[in-house]
Amino acid sequence: MTHAEATKEIQQLTEQVNYHNNLYYQQNRTEISDFEFDQLLKQLIDLENQFPALKLPDSPTQRVGGAITKEFEAVAHQYPMLSLGNTYSEQDLRDFDERVAKGLEGVAFEYFCELKFDGVSISLIYEDGILAKAVTRGDGVRGDNVIANAKTIRTLPLKIRATEVPPKFEVRGEVFLSKDVFRQLNREREDIGEETYANARNTASGTLKMQDSAEVAKRKLDCYLYYLLGESIGIQTHEQAIREMERWGFQVSPTYRKCRDINEVLQYIHYWETKRNGLPLETDGVVIKVNDLDQQKVLGFTAKSPRWAIAYKYKAESISTRLNGITYQVGRTGAVTPVAELEPVLLAGTTVKRASLHNANEIERLALHEGDFVFVEKGGEIIPKVTGVDLAQRGSGAKPIKYINACPECGTKLIRTEGEANHYCPNEKGCPPQITGKVEHFIQRKALDIDSLGEQTIKQLFSLGLIKTPADLYDLQKSDLLKLDKVKEKSAQNILDGIAASKNAPFESVLFGMGIRFVGKTVAEKLSGYFKSMDALAGASYDQLLQAPEVGEKIAQSVVDFFAEESNRTEVARLKAAGLKMESNQKEPEKVSNALGDKSFVISGTFANYERDALKDIILANGGRVLSGVSGKLDYLLAGENMGPSKLEKAEKLGVTVIGIEAFEAMLKP
Ligand code: IVH
Repeated sequence: MTHAEATKEIQQLTEQVNYHNNLYYQQNRTEISDFEFDQLLKQLIDLENQFPALKLPDSPTQRVGGAITKEFEAVAHQYPMLSLGNTYSEQDLRDFDERVAKGLEGVAFEYFCELKFDGVSISLIYEDGILAKAVTRGDGVRGDNVIANAKTIRTLPLKIRATEVPPKFEVRGEVFLSKDVFRQLNREREDIGEETYANARNTASGTLKMQDSAEVAKRKLDCYLYYLLGESIGIQTHEQAIREMERWGFQVSPTYRKCRDINEVLQYIHYWETKRNGLPLETDGVVIKVNDLDQQKVLGFTAKSPRWAIAYKYKAESISTRLNGITYQVGRTGAVTPVAELEPVLLAGTTVKRASLHNANEIERLALHEGDFVFVEKGGEIIPKVTGVDLAQRGSGAKPIKYINACPECGTKLIRTEGEANHYCPNEKGCPPQITGKVEHFIQRKALDIDSLGEQTIKQLFSLGLIKTPADLYDLQKSDLLKLDKVKEKSAQNILDGIAASKNAPFESVLFGMGIRFVGKTVAEKLSGYFKSMDALAGASYDQLLQAPEVGEKIAQSVVDFFAEESNRTEVARLKAAGLKMESNQKEPEKVSNALGDKSFVISGTFANYERDALKDIILANGGRVLSGVSGKLDYLLAGENMGPSKLEKAEKLGVTVIGIEAFEAMLKP
């Protein structure tokens, strides 16, 4: 393909993929199948890899991330990012209303109400319709440009498609993790034995500041916009600003309402007090804004916040109820979670019977006693929390609750590792929920994807003594399955077919499915790409493991411990004998040119527009070679930002040519 052909093709594919993305994320519609969409995207990715200089600024491939940012650029806000005065009291709102009326000297005015989204504020700068910067609040005056991470937010337009859009403007809003996504993320963390995140807001904040945008893309951040700024935008009210933002393709929460006076504002507040629990994200109050922009100007700002807006915060509903006892759940990894069993009580619209107590520290912190009455809260969150003890109701002589010593499932003495909050049951191979949990982990979609099996079937297979480990699945006979409740000829065959089909699952899925602690799907993919086979991985030393991407000390130790255990090695051998894939079939990139003519490269530092693996692929695809260390034989050191000084020094001493990314891109041009 010529340069000119590629230019045209990349333009068309970018246009097409963006069009379908827009339909899907902004309008909830589709015109092509997922498969067709993936094909288009893949063609574009391949072409961009061949012709990196031709990638367009609104390329949808940025949605999947890849760029690594070592240090975010500090950017001064054109308009400071202020906070809002906030209150929990309706009287304060009436006082605010009076101040506004006074400030406007009797001229009529209206309010515009929105929910207060509990996320991380962001300022997005668009230049000529293209998303150019995404800046965090920082100290309100300067923030960090997290553009590569913001671009992974699917609902955010990278390029505005509407007509009559100002050449430069800024929109502000709140980045968040939806309740569903947050729950799923925690489920996945629990599954690989990582501690779960405490709340969605902090997790969203941490995610937005991650260095690897490919990781951010997997977290599925989302964003609601609520503020439009810029010169000569030609709007008179906040309501018009909201409508314009909607027209330009921004996601605005449909929960806003214009209110004629403070009584309507209070109605709005009461309406959403419980209804907000059903929204996809967490909210913690209502933001009330004077609608007219000229009136906003008249009212102006104090040093810290606008006089034309205020936030009303909902009090987290709290109720006292009797603690009937504590039960302890044992997960796949043996982690024990204490759960408060409560006298059922109505809270924020639902009956609460149980609340997680997280770990022994939490029980200690609350100093729970038998028969205590506890306060239960349900903020905006789904999961109720025990926030304290109602000491007034504690009977004299009540005994403090002691954490259990032995596993409630198998009686084994629990252990607690220094520095970890959780207790563990060490009886990995004999504790029922750990055994069935491991098999459930193995069959899940991201692992071996055996959807003909479910939780109940696995529990039954275990209780009938038919399975103890995932490898046992491959020894099951039809006669075994027919022993299960409600399983007849057809469903038995179905299960067997599903098990047989799992033999085609790629190596990284097998590796993930084996359930090595701390080895989630991403890590399994990286390990598979780096070591290429189970044998190489099993034979790797702690130090060799540390060389692999994404692998730190915790993961390296966990992998070493896993393969040190005989029973695990036996399990792997059985899975191999059953015909599961034990080698990576990640292909070497296809040759597209010989532009680099067998020259050798070492890649060092970070690059704004490339992930290191992608650069490696580009070099290989264009006839070059990639080495890991600088030596006299090396042709080029490809230097990015923040590269270590020692490599550079060595390269200079040995007379190796050091090139930057532009020079490298130029080498690829025909
Ligand atoms: S308007 C001049 N609207 O709450 C301030 N803010 O405490 C303009 N927030 O900084 C902000 N939902 O991070 C506005 N619907 C909403 C909001 C909202 C959440 C956040 C935002 C703001 C903070 C103020």
